[in-house]
Amino acid sequence: MRVLILGGDGYLGWPTAIHFSAAGDEVWVADNFAKRQWELEEGIQPLRPVPTLHRRVARWRELTNNPIHLRVGDLTNHRFVYKLLEEARPDAIVHYAEQPSAPYSMQSRTTAVNTQVNNVAGTMNLLFGIQAICPDTHLVKLGTMGEYGTPNIDIEEGYLTVEHNGRTDTVLYPKLPGSFYHLSKVHDSNNIYFACRIWGLRATDLNQGVVYGIDTDQTVLDETLATSFHYDHVFGTVLNRFLVQASLDLPLTVYGKGGQTRGFLNIRDTLQCVELAARNPADRGEFRVFNQFTEQFSVRRLAEMVVAAGGRHGLDVKVDQIENPRVEREEHYYNARHSKLADLGLVPHLLTDAVLDDMLDTIVRHNAAVDTSTLMPSIRWAGGQVAAKA
Ligand SMILES: NC(=O)c1ccc[n+]([C@@H]2O[C@H](COP(=O)([O-])OP(=O)(O)OC[C@H]3O[C@@H](n4cnc5c(N)ncnc54)[C@H](O)[C@@H]3O)[C@@H](O)[C@H]2O)c1
Repeated sequence: MRVLILGGDGYLGWPTAIHFSAAGDEVWVADNFAKRQWELEEGIQPLRPVPTLHRRVARWRELTNNPIHLRVGDLTNHRFVYKLLEEARPDAIVHYAEQPSAPYSMQSRTTAVNTQVNNVAGTMNLLFGIQAICPDTHLVKLGTMGEYGTPNIDIEEGYLTVEHNGRTDTVLYPKLPGSFYHLSKVHDSNNIYFACRIWGLRATDLNQGVVYGIDTDQTVLDETLATSFHYDHVFGTVLNRFLVQASLDLPLTVYGKGGQTRGFLNIRDTLQCVELAARNPADRGEFRVFNQFTEQFSVRRLAEMVVAAGGRHGLDVKVDQIENPRVEREEHYYNARHSKLADLGLVPHLLTDAVLDDMLDTIVRHNAAVDTSTLMPSIRWAGGQVAAKA
């Protein structure tokens, strides 16, 4: 396949690029390095320094002889998108290139607007570009389980069949997102669905859970090939943050009661899922939705698992329940279906003690570089910051 990875410099984009390249596919990557700029603005760095994308692409070629075609540009610039599609003519596009943080989007008017313009306009340019240049290309788009929120009924995979006044229809599952970031993903889903229905494009929306993990089969081949790993309160996901706190003997910061339950998956399974979606494309006109996670955990349960992992490493890890900076339910029903990727052959890497121990070992080796001032949340959903900052 010719695969175009958008957001190829990112936590998930880079490992995806070398995963497809290792499988013998022709890989193109594009990125505008916006994430590196947002990190600088927030005063945040990943745990390990991440070499430039150019350096990583060159190192991958030295090691494997496989070229990866690299283009630098911004998806909100339609000329860049059109030229890229004309050059790459991909069979599949894996679209990761968005602002990925809920707290970042809730920080101020500016970051909320930038998140929605970046994410929604970038995806719109892509849809128009595909329609004009390569309408048979399969778009594999990263959405999030956070689009659904926490409804008091089972979460289906994308669609819900409803009965109303004696008639039935199947509609997109109702969405109740919890941040302007999650809202941007809902807007993307609606726009992509529209493009499939009206223009006959083919797309798979991957409503991904929270990803954890540091390495993949390819990133471990050489330290230059490492991907970014965030543990901070803006870009770090919860398990990654807890493990860093445990490694430093700092209490785990559980937001509120900790009954918040979400879907989770290992970064290795992100690669598997994206590959399964790409190799089994949606039909023309089809908007396919998969819920991409392998296990559900409450935040409290994750904290217990990290306390136990700390114990196995001789660390006496404590848990602090701190005031929840988010507006969200802290105890709720949660049961989300996730069978479609399993039907395509997904074999999950579950969150075992061995996986936790392995992550903790790696983090302990690098934790001298941790900036502990970036661990505590400072962005509040309600309480003034959004209104106060222009
Ligand atoms: N990491 C997770 O736990 C998780 C969970 C659910 C969904 N997702 C989604 O998966 C995708 C990838 O997540 P990630 O954690 O790798 O994020 P990331 O920030 O590490 O990667 C995104 C990349 O896209 C680039 N980018 C952003 N806007 C761009 C634009 N306009 N033009 C070109 N490049 C642009 C960034 O520079 C960055 O390198 C995101 O869309 C995110 O919302 C991630």
